[in-house]
Amino acid sequence: MSDPSIARLEQANEELRTQSNELAALAGSLAHEIKTPLSVIRLNVELIAEDLAELDHPVARRLGRRIEVVQRQCSRLEGLLNDFLRLTRLSHLELVAGSLNGLLEQVLDFFEAEARSRKVEVLRYLEADLPSVQMDKQTLQAALTNMVKNALEAMPEGGQLVVRTRMTRTGVAVDLIDTGQGIDSPTLLNMFEPFYTTKDAGSGLGLPMAKKVIEAHGGVIHVQSEVGRGTQFTLEFPTPRRL
Ligand SMILES: Nc1ncnc2c1ncn2[C@@H]1O[C@H](COP(=O)(O)OP(=O)(O)O)[C@@H](O)[C@H]1O
Ligand SMILES: [Mg+2]
Repeated sequence: MSDPSIARLEQANEELRTQSNELAALAGSLAHEIKTPLSVIRLNVELIAEDLAELDHPVARRLGRRIEVVQRQCSRLEGLLNDFLRLTRLSHLELVAGSLNGLLEQVLDFFEAEARSRKVEVLRYLEADLPSVQMDKQTLQAALTNMVKNALEAMPEGGQLVVRTRMTRTGVAVDLIDTGQGIDSPTLLNMFEPFYTTKDAGSGLGLPMAKKVIEAHGGVIHVQSEVGRGTQFTLEFPTPRRL
C-alpha cells in the first residue's frame, strides 16, 4: 500500500537531490574555471621572482619577499581547488587492483623531510602479505596525503606517527595513529563537513575529501581520539573474495 504523504516526501527528496547535484556540478565548473587564470598568475609571479632574484638592490629583496607570499597563497589556492575538484568528481574513479602498502610508502616518503623537521618519528608496520585493493591510485593517494598531513600538523612539538596495515575479516585496514593534540567533541562532530577547520590557514576540505574517496572505494573510516593524547584513524577497504 502506498501512503500519499510518503510519496510526497520522496518526491521532495528527489528534487532536493537533483538541486544539490546541479549545485555541485556548478561549483565544480567554477573551481575548474578559476584554475586556469590562477596558473597564469602563478607562472608570471614565478617569472617576476626569477628576475628579482638577479637584482642586487634592497627594493628588489623587499619585493622578493612579497612575491614569496603571493606564491605561497597561489599554491594554497591550487591545493584547495584540487581537493574541491576531487570532492565533486568522485564519479569518475578508475578502480584497478593495486598495493596499499606501495601507496603508503610513496606518501610517507613524500613527507619524510617534513616529518624530520617537525621532530615526528614515523613508524611503518606494513603487513607483508597484504592482499591488493581495487583503487584509483591518484585519488586515494591524495586522500592519504591529506590524512598524514593532518597527523603531522597535530604534533607541533613533535611526536610519533604509526602507520600500520593489516588484514581484516573482509579486507584490509590502515591505521594512522598519532601522538598529537587529539580532537575535541565539537570537532569530532563537524570535521567531516566541508570547510570545517580549527586551523588559521586550513581549508577544511581534507577530511571530507578523504572520507568521500574512501567510501567511493567501498571503504569506511573510523576515528578514536583523546584530547592531549592523540588520534587513531582507521580506514577499512574490502578486498575481492578469493575463490
Ligand atoms: N590527526 C588529527 N589530529 C587532530 N585533529 C585532527 C586530525 N585530523 C583532523 N583533525 C581536525 O579536523 C579538522 C578538519 O581537517 P581537514 O578537513 O583536513 O581540514 P584542515 O586540515 O584544512 O583543517 C582539522 O582542522 C583538525 O581540527
Ligand atoms: Mg587537513
